[in-house]
Parts: sequence; structure tokens; C-alpha cells
Amino acid sequence: MIKKCLFPVAGYGTRFLPATKSMPKEMMPIVNKPLVQYGVEEAFNAGMTDMAFVTGRGKRAIPDHFDISYELEAQIAGTDKENHLIGIRNLIDNCTFTYTRQMQMKGLGHAILTGETLIGDRPFGVVLADDLCIAKGQSVLSQLVSLHEEFRCTVVAIEEVPPDETHKYGVISGQEVRPGVYRVDTMIEKPAPAEAPSNLAIIGRYILTPDIFDIIRKTPPGRNGEVQITDALMEQARAGNVIACKFSGKRFDCGSVDGFVEATNYCYENLYLTDDSALD
Ligand code: UTP
Repeated sequence: MIKKCLFPVAGYGTRFLPATKSMPKEMMPIVNKPLVQYGVEEAFNAGMTDMAFVTGRGKRAIPDHFDISYELEAQIAGTDKENHLIGIRNLIDNCTFTYTRQMQMKGLGHAILTGETLIGDRPFGVVLADDLCIAKGQSVLSQLVSLHEEFRCTVVAIEEVPPDETHKYGVISGQEVRPGVYRVDTMIEKPAPAEAPSNLAIIGRYILTPDIFDIIRKTPPGRNGEVQITDALMEQARAGNVIACKFSGKRFDCGSVDGFVEATNYCYENLYLTDDSALD
């Protein structure tokens, strides 16, 4: 059973300036719920209860969110407003939350390595909360857990992107072992369309095996001078140990303004208006 999930939330979120000048991008709400809460709920629904965060300066609102707010709760006790806190209370009551800081933003690979102290030596989930995933039925992270149980190796979520957008993602190619499931043999971080091995892009959901930490330690900075998780994953892929899954569900790139607005409209129309407890 995978119990731990890592949330790298140290990035600056520069695409959302000035909103992210003093507020973490992961606390930006999609309708009335912060992005990071959607991510933690997805991990919880995939059976994980130990939530581990790699934070940075200016991110204190995240630990505060996953804590009791006595004054506020006393103030609204006995009113309808209490209902809005049911979801977050459920997480607080059933999960643990631990934090460590990434002192310098040296890339996602480096952020994951910084989380080693919270994770230890068992397979773990990784959620990039700025990718919002909405699935009917089994959540996207839970779909990856099922594949990890079957293949016993690292699993990444992928989706087809327009060929002119490959430069925004890690892009894979591999052997399709059954519809939508690939054994990865190539991975390139942010390739130009001409050098992309396919249009199958890695999105922000992973199950990683703990040997990844030693591999990252030996991985030199890559694209943009950052330690790229894609480069470390390529090392595992060379040994045949990475499975990629075309997940079922929708994914919104909430790290970009367009994706954020799209997610907001989708959640408002499809969740909030149809079931007013859906976003609590
Ligand atoms: P992004 O590059 O999308 O996030 O990193 P960012 O840097 O915050 O955003 P922009 O480009 O400036 O707008 C993907 C994820 O990896 C985390 C980010 O927090 C985000 O969830 N990350 C990235 C870290 O935790 N540390 C890093 O050094 C880099």
C-alpha cells in the first residue's frame, strides 16, 4: 500500500504575478477551494494518508490551511457555513501533514530529492497541484496506483498534447503494452516539436520508486539549468522500469492563466452548480 504522497509546492508561480507575489499559487481557488486541497483529496482518495510538502519561502498559507482554525470555527459553529469546512476537516482528521523547505528553486527533480527526508524508502505518489485532474470514478492518482500494483515500477500519467506544445512538457515514447499503457523507452524534457519522440506529454501525477532519490543525486542540471525529474526518470526507463498511462479524466494546467480560467468555468458549471456540496 502506498501511504505517502509528495507535493512539491516551492515554485514561484511567476505566470500568476502579481497574484503570487505573497500568496502561494497552490492556494489560488478553483471556485471556492484551493488547488492544493484538490490535490490532497485526490491523494487521499487513492489511499494515501501521509501528505508531505516541499515548500519554500512565502508558502505559510499551505500549512495553515491544513490546520485547525479555532477562532474561525468557533465563530461559525452551529451555522450553515460549517458545511464548507467538512471536506478540509475530513482531511485534517484522517491525514498527517509534514513539511520541509527547498532553499533554492533548482528544479522539480531537486524539489523531489529535497522531499526524501519525508518519504523514506517506499514507493510514493507525487502530485503537482497546479495540474488539476478531475475524473469520473477512479481518480487519476488512483489509476496510477493500480498500475504500480500490477507492474511494480514507476508510473507516470501522460496525455496527448498538440504537437506545437511539446516544449512545455516532458515527452515520452515507448511500447504500448495494452491500449493506453506504455513501457517507456525515451523521455525528453521540453523538446521542440521537431525533436519530440511523440506527442505524449507527462503531466503532474507520478508514482515513484525510492531508487529515484539516488538517481536524482547523480543527475546533473539539464534544461534551463534545473535538475529535471524527466532526466532521472530516463535512467529508470533505460532499465525498463517506467510505465506511462493515458489516464481517463480531464486535466487542467492551472499553472497557466488559460488553464486556470478553463478549470474554474468547468468546475463551476459541472460541480458547483450541480451539487453544492461537491466543492466543499
Ligand atoms: P512550474 O515550473 O510549473 O512551477 O513547476 P513554477 O515555477 O511555480 O511556475 P512559473 O513557471 O514560475 O509560473 C512545476 C511544479 O514543480 C514545483 C512547482 O511548485 C510546481 O508545482 N517546483 C518547481 C518546485 O517545487 N521546485 C522547483 O525548484 C521547481
